[in-house]
Amino acid sequence: MGDSGDKQEGLAAHDWAGEAGTRWLSQLDRFESMIEPIGKALLEQAAYKTSETVVDVGCGGGWTTRQIADMVGKTGFALGLDISPDLVATARDRATRAGLTNIRFEQGDAAMAMPADAPFDRLFSRFGLMFFPQPYPAFANLRRMLRKGGRIDIALWGPIAKNPWQRTIMRIIKEHIDVPKPVPRAPGPFAMSEQEYVIDLLQCAGFSDIKFNEWIGDQHMGGPGSDPESAASFALNGMHISELVRPGGDEIRTTIHRRLVELYKSNCDDDGVRMGAMAWLVSARA
Ligand SMILES: C[S@@+](CC[C@H](N)C(=O)[O-])C[C@H]1O[C@@H](n2cnc3c(N)ncnc32)[C@H](O)[C@@H]1O
Repeated sequence: MGDSGDKQEGLAAHDWAGEAGTRWLSQLDRFESMIEPIGKALLEQAAYKTSETVVDVGCGGGWTTRQIADMVGKTGFALGLDISPDLVATARDRATRAGLTNIRFEQGDAAMAMPADAPFDRLFSRFGLMFFPQPYPAFANLRRMLRKGGRIDIALWGPIAKNPWQRTIMRIIKEHIDVPKPVPRAPGPFAMSEQEYVIDLLQCAGFSDIKFNEWIGDQHMGGPGSDPESAASFALNGMHISELVRPGGDEIRTTIHRRLVELYKSNCDDDGVRMGAMAWLVSARA
């Protein structure tokens, strides 16, 4: 379903080893600061202890991997695994500059890669697990990365209806562009928004003791401090929706940009542009 789903949505948008990775990298600080509150909540839920070994799957630029390395201390270890070579190179560079010695980054497809340091005590992922073309075997591979009794803590976006930061953008785009109907569960940010589906994936992979916490809050579009103009540019250039808007041409793009600026003006305060968001923070035992 995954591949065809992507085509139906017209999105080459989730080619993380290529264009999507480059796009995330080009706005790395803004993406990371936008989802920082969710990262902090997930790290708090995980409550890593000294000496634990942790794999951070789909680690991107490695912000969360560095936090984990801090939490587990010198006797513990954090491995960041990501499919994008450019993001892995950047994550390595940032960790070296931070002087961390208990951290390593590896490039690989988490659906099939098995890091040499496996099995780990813990597995972490902030929004890195929603892009597998074949999620069932991929989740079975994640389970194999853990020792028996090991635990996962993962963040997944909740339903789009509860995520105005994305829903409002889509509403505006659809007024100007004929967007193909989204295919449920196709790879993408909202692929794992259904609780029952996630439970099935985890149970089929051999996980138990599955718990869901709901994170509900505002997130700053383009990061704290962005004004409406720069938040709209961030959404149109940095986010995967840029692929949807491209076929419309320059005129439609300018109109959508203007509409986004209007929307963000009415959701702006001294800290930047706030839009509501909802994510699942899921934990389970291997
Ligand atoms: C939305 S970004 C999140 C990045 C990072 N976890 C963060 O929160 O800053 C998704 C990340 O998952 C990675 N990713 C996607 N599919 C992957 C796969 N099959 N194996 C490993 N990494 C993958 C992407 O390259 C990207 O870095």
